[in-house]
Formats: sequence, C-alpha cells, structure tokens
Amino acid sequence: MARISVLTSFLLLLLSPFVHLAPTPGSLQKVSDFGSNPTNVGMYIYVPKKLADKPGIVVAIHYCTGSAQSYYSGSPYSQLSETYGFVVIYPSSPHSGTCWDVSSKASLTHNGGGDSNAIANMVTWAITQYSADTSKVFVTGSSSGAMMTNVMAAAYPEMFAAGIAYSGVPAGCFVSTSGGVDAWNNSCANGQVNDTPQQWANVVDNMYPSYNGTRPKMQIYHGSSDATLLPNNYKETMKQWCGVFGYSYDSPASTKQNTPQSQYTTTTYGPMVQGIYATGVGHTVPIHGSQDMQWFGFTT
Ligand SMILES: *[C@@H]1O[C@H](CO)[C@@H](O)[C@H](O)[C@H]1NC(C)=O
Ligand SMILES: *[C@@H]1O[C@H](CO)[C@@H](O)[C@H](O)[C@H]1NC(C)=O
Repeated sequence: MARISVLTSFLLLLLSPFVHLAPTPGSLQKVSDFGSNPTNVGMYIYVPKKLADKPGIVVAIHYCTGSAQSYYSGSPYSQLSETYGFVVIYPSSPHSGTCWDVSSKASLTHNGGGDSNAIANMVTWAITQYSADTSKVFVTGSSSGAMMTNVMAAAYPEMFAAGIAYSGVPAGCFVSTSGGVDAWNNSCANGQVNDTPQQWANVVDNMYPSYNGTRPKMQIYHGSSDATLLPNNYKETMKQWCGVFGYSYDSPASTKQNTPQSQYTTTTYGPMVQGIYATGVGHTVPIHGSQDMQWFGFTT
C-alpha cells in the first residue's frame, strides 16, 4: 500500500509539468484546458503577484494581426492588475491574419460555438479557478478586439458588468450573410451601414433572444481620422447601445469637450452608455488605462 502511494506520488511528480497546474503569477501563461473550444482559440492569462481576494477579471482582446502576447506587452492591463489585483485574460485568435470571427452566426449567438463562446468559457474557467467576483467581470479590446468586445457584451450580457471598445464596429455589423467565418465586411468597415437604434438593438437581442436580465455598461472610443473602420461606426455603435438601454441617441444627457483630454469629446447618453470621440486620431485610439479603471469601477 505504502509502496503504491510512493510510486503514485513519484509518477505525479514526473507528470506535474503536464497536469493541470495553476498559472504562475507575474507572467503571461498559457492555459490549455479551459473548457469547450471548438474554434481552437488560445487562452493566455496574467495573474498578478498580489491577487485580490475575490478578484475581478478583465478580458483584453487583441487587434487584427495581433496576439495575446502582443496585447499583453502593448496594453497596460497587466501593470494595472498589479495595483488592483484582477486577473487578465488575453484570448488569442486562431484565424490566419488573426482577426476575430465576428461575422459567423456561431460567433454572433449566445453559446453558438464560435470564438465568442470560447472566450466566454475562458471567463467561466477563471471565475472558478480564482473564486472571482462575478460582479467584476469586464471586457475590452482594440479594433478587431473592439468588435469582439461589442459582440461579447451583446451575446454574453449576463457575464459582464462593463465593456470598453477602442475603435470597433457595432455588434453584428460585420455579419457575413453567406455565413463566412472571420470574414471582412466592407460595407460596415467603410461606414455604409446605417441603422436606427431600434434596428441595432434588435441585432443585439437576436444574439440571445431569451435574455431579459441586466447588461454591461458600455464605453466606446473612436477616432475621427480612422481610415480602417470609418468614423460612421462610432455613430452606429452609440445608436446600438442607446437602443439597447432605451436612451435617446439624439439628445444625450451630457457632452463634454476636451474630456478626458484635449480634442476628445465625451458624450454620456445615460449611466450605462458613454462615447468618446477623438478628433484627429486614426486607427486605433490609444488605450486610456486609468480611465478604463474608472469605467470598470476599480477607481472612482
Ligand atoms: C455586411 O454587414 C451588413 C450589416 O452590417 C450586411 O447587411 C451585409 O450584407 C454584410 N455584407 C456581406 C457581404 O455579408
Ligand atoms: C425573464 O425571464 C425569466 C426566465 O425566462 C422569466 O421567468 C421572467 O418572467 C422574465 N422577466 C421579464 C421581466 O420578462
């Protein structure tokens, strides 16, 4: 009996690099088995050295041509996590060119089995692994990652308390009517899709028709000189979230010039929806880490 358990411990020791171990704090780590992952999205995680008790989770989603590693080194979230104690999840796109799939029915549907589903499964894994505070789960991203941020907020509203999209398009705007996965949508990118707030809200509702609970508050950044995802996408995204929350797109609650910095205009439509339009800024608007911490409620 004793010999068997010694043998067992020895075998476990040998196998330990391969069995499921908690990621090491203070560096970017790959997580292999986080749950169902039909589109083979990569999961990377940053656990701060000073992890909070019941930590928050920030999902930080990379741009086209990017990766978990490039967004980890090119965004402030891992450093901020050392101050605020949250876990950062960096998903990595599996597609060639590594834009996210924000065009297929699967990815644009709650539990539809696409990239968005894989990212939601990463969040579920991390909530359990770190006994996270489920009221402090957030999503953000740049460009293709901003498109995915809007999709995550639309398709998994129960999961997120807030989202911040840097230079994306409305959820569902990149839809491929022929069912293309990870397809580019020229009419959306070029700012030729114009819908009403109600039409955009319907696009969101159709991603999770049975849902009637609370939804994440959304903050949207876009540059006036964006030549990749034309600035009309800013208007359309604001219309979308105004439609979802029942705010008036035409008469916002407040508009502040030169906020949070010179040449940026912050428009608040209601407590849950804010847009920040950056005059003269191209693709993409730089990440505003300390403002992000405010929107997520880590600072006041
Ligand atoms: C692009 O998206 C719009 C909706 O935003 C849709 O009407 C259009 O058919 C899509 N284009 C393609 C080629 O699927
Ligand atoms: C929301 O959905 C639940 C479950 O389907 C249902 O029991 C409840 O009545 C719904 N609430 C509203 C306000 O529609």
